[in-house]
Amino acid sequence: MSTFKIGIIGSGGMARHHLQRFSSIEKVGIVAITSRNRDTGTHLADEYKTSYISDWQQLLDNDVLEGIVICTHNDSHGEIALKALESGKHVFVEYPLANNISQAEEAINLAKACNLILRVSHPEVVSNNHQSLKKKTKALGDLLLSSFTRLTPRRGTRPEILFNLSVSGIPAHFFIYHIYPIVDLFGEPAWVEGAACYEGLTETGQYNRFVNTVTIVFKQGGIGQWSWAGGIDINESQQHQRYVLTNGSLINDGDGWYCSTVDGVTELKVSKTPQPSLQELWLTEIQASKYSEPNYNDVDVALSAIKISLAAEQSIQEDRRIEL
Ligand SMILES: NC(=O)c1ccc[n+]([C@@H]2O[C@H](COP(=O)([O-])OP(=O)(O)OC[C@H]3O[C@@H](n4cnc5c(N)ncnc54)[C@H](OP(=O)(O)O)[C@@H]3O)[C@@H](O)[C@H]2O)c1
Repeated sequence: MSTFKIGIIGSGGMARHHLQRFSSIEKVGIVAITSRNRDTGTHLADEYKTSYISDWQQLLDNDVLEGIVICTHNDSHGEIALKALESGKHVFVEYPLANNISQAEEAINLAKACNLILRVSHPEVVSNNHQSLKKKTKALGDLLLSSFTRLTPRRGTRPEILFNLSVSGIPAHFFIYHIYPIVDLFGEPAWVEGAACYEGLTETGQYNRFVNTVTIVFKQGGIGQWSWAGGIDINESQQHQRYVLTNGSLINDGDGWYCSTVDGVTELKVSKTPQPSLQELWLTEIQASKYSEPNYNDVDVALSAIKISLAAEQSIQEDRRIEL
């Protein structure tokens, strides 16, 4: 296999993470890093002995490149992914795939039509834990309730990005990685309702604390609920999850998954088989696409997940239930 040449867009935390992963894979060449932030962009490019380009459009014009890795903020993923696919490149994009449905659908349709691999950075596909949950939820009957609660103290290192509706979207959108796995387990929603409160919300969309809830009914039956609160006065993050099914429940209060049935409580068995990284999976899919038709199931799940977060936003704006 000849060297697969990629370009990275963004020079923050996730760009660094993906650079570490990709640079450790044989036969991957990192041709350039592009970022609007010249200081962090040139610093990262120097560190990885590659070149820095200030304009991502210019990067896409480089015909040597075969793949683009998008690590910018949420508000630019959709546009860049679409343009990268239009330029004939395979795309690895940080979640969420896009901030609007038509852009996401256009990108997916283009990838399918052009046999290009579009992978959104949702790790469940290579997670033994998630695969065990998938098997166990199937074995426990029909879903009654999926409930998820996440409480986060303080405001993170870059609240001007995360606690900002115009850059990151509502919490359900930047916490899309809590929605994706549940859609992968239980399928698409029939309808969505959202509610949100923001403390200190400014005209530019920034705020200090938030509470955001999303409720759905799945097409297959059963209710899904997510609650997030951030910037609140607790000592450390807490996360609680429940999948309540007709023949038992799966429970995780932060110390792993347990299965509760009328016969007792057991720890969820998880395989220890090593899995490829998401980056390796993307490259394998690109290789395989030369010989067989790619499977776009994961990106379709990513689309369903953003449909939920964006419908929740619409529900909040219009104060009504959104049918999908
Ligand atoms: N997969 C995961 O586990 C995971 C974890 C955390 C975050 N994420 C996702 O990854 C993405 C990036 O997060 P992060 O933590 O890496 O953020 P970050 O540290 O703030 O880095 C984002 C980078 O993108 C650049 N950028 C933003 N908009 C741009 C644009 N329009 N054109 C060119 N460059 C642009 C920023 O430049 P400036 O310095 O000029 O702002 C910065 O270099 C987010 O969408 C987030 O949801 C994924």
